[in-house]
Amino acid sequence: MSALKILVIPGSLRTGSLNMKLAAAAAQELVRAGADVTRISLGDFPLPIYDGDLQSKSGVPKHAVNLKRMIGAHHGVLFVTPEYNSSLPPLLKNAIDWVSRVQDAHETRGQVFRERAFAIAAASAARLGGTRCLAALRLVLAACHATVIPNQLALSFADQAYDDMDRLKHPGDIEALDAMVRQLIDVSQRMM
Ligand SMILES: Cc1cc2nc3c(=O)[nH]c(=O)nc-3n(C[C@H](O)[C@H](O)[C@H](O)COP(=O)(O)O)c2cc1C
Repeated sequence: MSALKILVIPGSLRTGSLNMKLAAAAAQELVRAGADVTRISLGDFPLPIYDGDLQSKSGVPKHAVNLKRMIGAHHGVLFVTPEYNSSLPPLLKNAIDWVSRVQDAHETRGQVFRERAFAIAAASAARLGGTRCLAALRLVLAACHATVIPNQLALSFADQAYDDMDRLKHPGDIEALDAMVRQLIDVSQRMM
C-alpha cells in the first residue's frame, strides 16, 4: 500500500497566526503517526471572490484548479482555521467555493470532496476556541458531500497554548490533537 498522504491547509495568512502554529503542530503529529504530510498556504493559490459571471466568462481560475488537484493528490485533508464572526473566514470559504466548481474530465462534480476524509480544527484566543466556526465549516463541507471525521480540535486560549518551541503545552490539547490525527489517519486509510 502507498504511503498515506495528508494535506494540511491553514485558513489564515497572518504573520504569527495561531492557526498556522496549530497547523504546524498537527503536521508534526501526522508525520509522527506515519503520514506523508504536505502543508500549504492559501496565499499560494490567490483567488478572486467567487463570481458566477467571472466563471462564465473566463472559466474557473487556474489556482482553483491547482488547489483542487492538490487536494485530489492526497488521501486526507485537515483544515485549520480562525473563527471570524462565529463563522469561517472568507479566505477559506472562497477557496472551498471555487474548488467545488472544478470538475476535471471523467469526474462528477464534487468528486474530490466525496473521495477522501476531512478533519477540521480551529485556534482562537477566546474561550470557545473557534467552536462555532467548526460547526459552520462542517456544514459547508457536508454540502460538498465530504466525509468529515467526528473528532475535531477547537483550541481555546490559543495565545497561551504553545511553549517556546511552538509545541502545544497543555495535556488536554495534546490529547485532542492526537485523537483527531489518529482518526483522520484511520478514516483516510479506509477510504483509500
Ligand atoms: C473579522 C474578525 C472576526 C473575528 N471573530 C471572532 C469570533 O467570532 N470568534 C473568535 O474566537 N475570534 C474571532 N476573531 C479573532 C480571531 O480568532 C483572531 O484574530 C485569531 O488570532 C485569528 O487567527 P490567526 O491568528 O490564525 O490569524 C475575529 C477576528 C477578525 C479579524
